[in-house]
Amino acid sequence: MGTQFYVGQVVEPEDLFFREGFIGELWDVLEKQHAILTAPRRTGKTSVMTHLLHKPADDWLVLYLNVQDTSNPADFYLQFLDEFNTRDPGVFRKLFSKGSLLINKALTAVDSVEVSSLKVAIRDNDKELANKWRDRLDDLLSRIRQVDCKVLIILDELPDMLLAMKKEDPNLLMEFLGWFRKQRLNPMPSRDPIRWLIGGSINLMGTLDAMGLVDRMNDPEIVQLPIFTPEQVGEFVETMLSGQGCIFNADVPAEVAKQLGRPIPLFMQMATQELYRTWRKKERELTVDDVSTVFSNLVTSPEARDKLQHYHSRIAHYYDGSTDPAYSLLNILSLSERGASRKLLRQKYDELQFAAGIERPDHEASRAFNELMLHLENDFYIVEIENDRYDFSGGLLKAWWRKYYA
Ligand SMILES: Nc1ncnc2c1ncn2[C@@H]1O[C@H](COP(=O)(O)OP(=O)(O)O)[C@@H](O)[C@H]1O
Ligand SMILES: [Mg+2]
Repeated sequence: MGTQFYVGQVVEPEDLFFREGFIGELWDVLEKQHAILTAPRRTGKTSVMTHLLHKPADDWLVLYLNVQDTSNPADFYLQFLDEFNTRDPGVFRKLFSKGSLLINKALTAVDSVEVSSLKVAIRDNDKELANKWRDRLDDLLSRIRQVDCKVLIILDELPDMLLAMKKEDPNLLMEFLGWFRKQRLNPMPSRDPIRWLIGGSINLMGTLDAMGLVDRMNDPEIVQLPIFTPEQVGEFVETMLSGQGCIFNADVPAEVAKQLGRPIPLFMQMATQELYRTWRKKERELTVDDVSTVFSNLVTSPEARDKLQHYHSRIAHYYDGSTDPAYSLLNILSLSERGASRKLLRQKYDELQFAAGIERPDHEASRAFNELMLHLENDFYIVEIENDRYDFSGGLLKAWWRKYYA
């Protein structure tokens, strides 16, 4: 394993820590069925997917589509074609060698450098695509099913695409979900060489549930990305620092795990990289005090702020209708010494609703509050530290939130 630091970039397969067993299990699942891999941002989904892409199991062809900025089925189709043609031009051409005038015309245009990409060439030529996306996609998938290997299609950040589709046209979202479901179930997975792996940093099932559409996506197996244990965090720190030739006190790795709280891999990397920089500057043994300094400096470093900022702004993005209470509850927690009881948070929540002029029966307020708490927990902001008591999931996020927002 390499000892290169990654602070936000996708981790290369050879530098990926603690995922070997999980990736093996994931391939086993994919042998049998479609799967959903959801986990909060910055926890390593895309890195795992990249491993599947670059180190596929035997007999698999893997395509990777990040559909974060895709907002309609026609664009999805174009992106799909483009990815296939980029990943394996040979197989792609074989796929379309018969009976597809449009695609062959587009390929010729690309070959003669008339147009910059397949996407553009097809968009220019296929005037009916906006209405006929279903036929086009069906045709593409039935051609893929003729390939003599299994084909894994990874759709990273799919919940974003579904939300964008809904915004553009709610009916189109329904149609797309209907089409997608049919493709996953017919042929049934045991007879289908195609597998879908769906990923995303927002809770897909929660999002679909809120739209009343959970039944459209309940067939794939839901796979959880394992959370690193404190021992693994310690091992990571140990490996990285030793690998760079640092001298450090034996208590340092465990102290990083402790201060990190719930280990978000990105923050684990950032803290360890900062420790390494401290060592370079001071050239003496690193101590537990250095760990504390690193964590308090991280909160104000521009590098960390960039990454942390996202945790704040995504709430405005994704917490439809409960943005303000979400911010307020997190403010309260960030100022607390050791978190707050659920009862107190509920009380604050009711006060806020009252002040905002929102009146509703108690059972509805309860439901909305419970949903908000679940959301915050699912998205890794908070954690139940003991019975009915909640706090920020990690010290870094908490300290940062307190400093900039509370
Ligand atoms: N297995 C891992 N080992 C070490 N660091 C990791 C690992 N997985 C993720 N990271 C860290 O998390 C960051 C984000 O990873 P990424 O795969 O983009 O996550 P996601 O797709 O969930 O947002 C990486 O830049 C790296 O700092
Ligand atoms: Mg990602």
